[in-house]
Amino acid sequence: MSDRTNQSGERDNLTGHEYDGIQEYDNPTPGWWIWLFVASVIFAAFYFVYYHSQQPNRSIYDSYADDTAANLKKKLDALGFKDPTITQDHMLEWMANKDYVDYGRSVFKQNCTSCHGENGEGKVGPNLTDEYFKNIKTLTDVPRVISNGAANGKMPAWQSLGPVDVALVGSYVATMRGKNLPSAITPAAYGDKIDPWPPLPATKPASASAQASAPATAK
Ligand code: HEC
Repeated sequence: MSDRTNQSGERDNLTGHEYDGIQEYDNPTPGWWIWLFVASVIFAAFYFVYYHSQQPNRSIYDSYADDTAANLKKKLDALGFKDPTITQDHMLEWMANKDYVDYGRSVFKQNCTSCHGENGEGKVGPNLTDEYFKNIKTLTDVPRVISNGAANGKMPAWQSLGPVDVALVGSYVATMRGKNLPSAITPAAYGDKIDPWPPLPATKPASASAQASAPATAK
């Protein structure tokens, strides 16, 4: 650092770097800026240890998933869903209830689309919208296969979802049948054509409370 005199006779702090007559003024970084920088570095260390230590329930993704699940459970309680016992009559009743089908769809979107496609049209997992099934003959086979898995785990077992989610995602999957989406992928000779489901009871309109509390999921 060298001190020189500028045109008005005042002394300037110059760094002494000069190139083609251009000199560099010694303009130090303000103290507040340096302390902010140091503080962020220290903060980053704690942040890194806290959020990147692979502990569960610390990332915003985890809390988002938890909150979504909690919200869905609340919605289901409000709808008065109680007994998830799998029987054919129960399944027909759930399939005829738009709120329960919506709930099943949200479970499907969270867990199943990676293999079965956004709307069940099939990817690595088979198309669920046609009339051909391999592990399914009757309605109650649907939640059973979902719970137990199939093909040595190529279709994972989803028991961990809990009985309510298995029951309702099963009902939703059962409603996909026969939609025959244009984008559907059916591997040649996948499964057999099965007998139609029994007729559904009269469709219940979506409940007003569910519409009000979760307009985004009700479609
Ligand atoms: C890792 C990929 C994968 C995921 C995730 C997955 N599945 Fe599957 N699923 C498969 C495969 C592969 C099969 C075919 C099994 C076979 O060939 O026996 C299958 C089969 C099925 C069947 C039986 C179809 C038939 O014709 O027998 C149903 C129903 C089903 N899955 C529903 C679901 C549901 C509901 C979910 C989400 C909770 C889900 N799957 C998640 C891969 C997956």
